Amino acid sequence: MSGRVDGKTALITGGGSGLGRASATHLAREGANVIVSDLNGDTARETADTINAERQGAALSCQHDATSEDDWNSALNLCQEHFGALHVLLNNAGISIGGDIESTDFDTWKKLQEVDVDSVFWGCKLALPFLRDAGGGSIINISSTVGIMGNPLTLGYGTAKAAVRSMTKSIALHCARQKYNIRCNSLHPTFIKTPLLKRFADAVGGDEEKAYDTLRSLIPLGDILDPIDVTHAVIYLASDESRMMTGSEFVIDGGLTCGYMPPI
Ligand SMILES: NC(=O)c1ccc[n+]([C@@H]2O[C@H](COP(=O)([O-])OP(=O)(O)OC[C@H]3O[C@@H](n4cnc5c(N)ncnc54)[C@H](O)[C@@H]3O)[C@@H](O)[C@H]2O)c1
Repeated sequence: MSGRVDGKTALITGGGSGLGRASATHLAREGANVIVSDLNGDTARETADTINAERQGAALSCQHDATSEDDWNSALNLCQEHFGALHVLLNNAGISIGGDIESTDFDTWKKLQEVDVDSVFWGCKLALPFLRDAGGGSIINISSTVGIMGNPLTLGYGTAKAAVRSMTKSIALHCARQKYNIRCNSLHPTFIKTPLLKRFADAVGGDEEKAYDTLRSLIPLGDILDPIDVTHAVIYLASDESRMMTGSEFVIDGGLTCGYMPPI
């Protein structure tokens, strides 16, 4: 273990699957203690069990609906009581539902804003006093490339992820102004091979690998992401190596958002 986040405690939402699970595991391997929270308490426990099999006592799990103020208070208090402090908050929990302006109904729109935006609002707001008590810390908000660029098929999801990008900058400047020593950054990955992307591939029908190949063809570097391509950035933002980064948008997209590739 190289210990880039030794001595820190991190709370990861949506830690029972995909990027959240990979982030919790990577943070623990780099020395952090982790609270793995998820709406699905069983999958959160599985992640924590796997981590504890590598380093006993490094992880604790809890069932946590990230849209619920009460659940946030319970998860944060659990973290404080069990590990003594909170230094890193990874707001990762999220859902993706496709749809354009004509096909998206209001209930779907509201659900996306609730899970993908309200959860980040509650997390940042309620974790702030704990991070201050710890002497400072790092908030990492998982957004997406669609939080930066348009996509006709992700109206509600893209709007939610754009809100996370803006919220991050507002919180970063507030914390800087108050001299809290709390940094807040957003991460903007493109397609990551996780269960979320598999569900998307299933929804567009046909062969999963063919769907991935279609997505790969959109990326200038010619591949979609593995979770570890993103968790390396999580480690950097969680660690003191990024002490002068706040309010930034960390884009990991194989060149997708940087411009237009002419077909000639
Ligand atoms: N997979 C991609 O291609 C991709 C690309 C860009 C950004 N992202 C973002 O990465 C994050 C993680 O996505 P993933 O791909 O690992 O998806 P995933 O579906 O594999 O995991 C999401 C996890 O969030 C949990 N969750 C859902 N609603 C919740 C709630 N209300 N409270 C607590 N937990 C809840 C789920 O139970 C699940 O364990 C999301 O914010 C997603 O928008 C994913």
